[in-house]
Amino acid sequence: MAQVEQPVKQPAKPRARGPDRSAALEQYRRRADVYDVELALLEPVRKRAIERLALKPGDTVLDVGCGTGMSLPLLQRAVGPTGRIIGIEQSPDMIEKARHRVAEAGWRNVTLVNAPVEVADLASAMPQLADAALFHFTHDILRQPQAVAHVLAHLAPGAKVVASGLKWASPWLWPINLFVLPAALHSVTSLDGLDKPWSHLIGVTEDRGTETMLGGGVYIASRVCKGVKGR
Ligand SMILES: C[S@@+](CC[C@H](N)C(=O)[O-])C[C@H]1O[C@@H](n2cnc3c(N)ncnc32)[C@H](O)[C@@H]1O
Repeated sequence: MAQVEQPVKQPAKPRARGPDRSAALEQYRRRADVYDVELALLEPVRKRAIERLALKPGDTVLDVGCGTGMSLPLLQRAVGPTGRIIGIEQSPDMIEKARHRVAEAGWRNVTLVNAPVEVADLASAMPQLADAALFHFTHDILRQPQAVAHVLAHLAPGAKVVASGLKWASPWLWPINLFVLPAALHSVTSLDGLDKPWSHLIGVTEDRGTETMLGGGVYIASRVCKGVKGR
């Protein structure tokens, strides 16, 4: 397994009401030990999101905000030993769990990059543009246009992009939102854009359909990269 430690550069000025990096690091420092148990009930959403990537053996896939690496076994099964997986994660506590998972499984085709997505040196982590990117329960990342643009700049034209996670259900389904609100407050540092979390992908990717689950409180948005020049 290749591991890349990168110096952390703070984005110049965090947007008002936008994601807060220090708060996120603290949030996931506290959650790292129990994260996998907390997410267990949502595994069908992960499985469906990864299916929507339609990965083939030999593909290169970016696991954006990979956390403890819970998606790695399914991604690994899809791309096979000739494929490549690059996990990007800013929390040292979360990525440590992912490293452990990779070492235990003996996967040699996984590179874990410990850096905020928006400044991660992805060009050094992979020799070619990627075929797919997964943003699974990564609202704080999806709400940073510079982070989304940085990932898209490392995708080949036609690459699949799947974003999945929590969203507000319709207002009249307020009991669902009574579940979404505490779950979101537990996992993100900004509720900005929770009505359409994938909105920064619009315009730079083509829509391939958005599914909702759990009464509209969970979404899976499938998109295809139009192609952004330059890394
Ligand atoms: C809810 S967890 C999801 C983890 C993983 N994708 C999964 O499916 O289990 C969100 C993760 O995004 C990471 N994260 C948040 N903002 C980030 C950023 N700007 N760059 C890299 N990782 C980030 C957090 O540290 C956390 O591990």
